[in-house]
Formats: sequence, structure tokens, C-alpha cells
Amino acid sequence: MRPRPVVAIDGPSGVGKTTVARGLARRLGMIYVDSGALYRSLAWLAAQDGVSWDDAEGLAALAGRHRFAFDREGRALVDGELAGKRIRTLRMSEGASTVAQHPMVRKALLTIQRDLGANGGVVLEGRDIGTVVFPDAEVKFFLAASPKVRALRRWKEMQAHGEQATLEQVERDQEARDRKDRGRSVAPLIKADDAVEISCDDMGPDEVVALMAARVEGCGATSA
Ligand code: DC
Repeated sequence: MRPRPVVAIDGPSGVGKTTVARGLARRLGMIYVDSGALYRSLAWLAAQDGVSWDDAEGLAALAGRHRFAFDREGRALVDGELAGKRIRTLRMSEGASTVAQHPMVRKALLTIQRDLGANGGVVLEGRDIGTVVFPDAEVKFFLAASPKVRALRRWKEMQAHGEQATLEQVERDQEARDRKDRGRSVAPLIKADDAVEISCDDMGPDEVVALMAARVEGCGATSA
């Protein structure tokens, strides 16, 4: 039994997982883990090293040669350095979704995620946290929102980071990625049977965080 709970938050891209997962972790005094950043970092490393995003073995070997971690603020680190904005481009979104198709890659990154959450007191967000990474998570959420709302949210986020893309590009990218993430044979994006689904179309992040926090506290899962 873990001393503190694991909270799993899954859902498609642009649904606002990062904002609410971060907010929830802060509110509950837990660690925040952005699993997508691991796939993004690996896609970025592959691009640097000339490893194809289709080369499952090369990618798994690459993952084994580098150190992935998160700092106290939940920012991704690769070999001790901040991964930063370079993993947030549309190109790396596509790369992350492509490398994430390979079972060997997923296996290599699974161990890292499980180690990060082993002692609990952690909020993990991704696509398969409640189904594969921590099927025994004490609390699971699945976030949903309409494609239009998600694309607009992601576009605004990219604007804020100075990333150039039109809303149409973001919408197209998101649709393609969702199809890939939902359709892959290993660990597809799917709601866990025991996850609480939250529809975020008409709810702001603070409201979603409050709802989640009440749920976690209601489960008595926050006590040590
Ligand atoms: O959450 P994100 O947009 O940063 O994730 C980028 C890609 O990484 C996403 O399209 C699919 C992949 N991913 C995954 O397959 N499993 C996860 N747990 C998290 C991300």
C-alpha cells in the first residue's frame, strides 16, 4: 500500500490536462508528472541524433541512454537540463505521437513513470495513466471537451509561448493526433472503466480543479 495516493488524469490533447493537473497537484501538495513530456523529449532527442521516429529499436535504445526527470515545478528535464519550449512545437507533438505508437518505446518510458509515482503523492497526466501506467491509481479522471474548444485552447497556449501556427493548423494536427492516439494497438487513449469523466467545455480550470480536489479528498485519499 502506498503512503499517499496516485491521481491519474487522462484525456485527449488540448483538453486542459496540464493546467488542471498542475493546479490539482499544487492544491493537494503533490508532485506533478507530465508523461507527454517524456514522449516529446524522446522525439526531440531522436531528431537531434538522426534516429527515425519509426525506428522502434533505435528509439528504445536512445531512451536508455538518456536520463528523464522532472524538477520541483514539474518541468521536464533531459540529462539534467530543462527540455523547455523546444519540445512543445507542433513538430514535436507529431513526433511524440509517432514514437508513442511503438510498444518498445512505451515499455522504456513506463518504468520511468512508475518509478516517479511509486510512493504516491503524485498527479500524473497522459493518455494511459489510469489504464496502463497506474491501473491501481486511487483516483482516476478522464477529461473531455469538444474538438473546437480543445483546438482553441491549445492555440492560445501556443500563442502565449510565441509558437507560430494558425488555429486551422492546430485543429488539423489535433485531429490527426487524436486519431493516432485512440487507434494505436498498445495503450490507446481510452477512458478507464473506473475513471470519473469530466466534461470541460463549460468549465474553467479552477472549477475543474475544485471538483477533482473534492473527489480526491472525499475518497480519504489525501491523508498520509
Ligand atoms: O500530452 P501531450 O500532448 O504532451 O502528449 C504528446 C503525445 O505523447 C501524445 O499525442 C501521445 C503521447 N502520449 C502517450 O502516448 N501516452 C501518454 N501517457 C502521454 C502522451
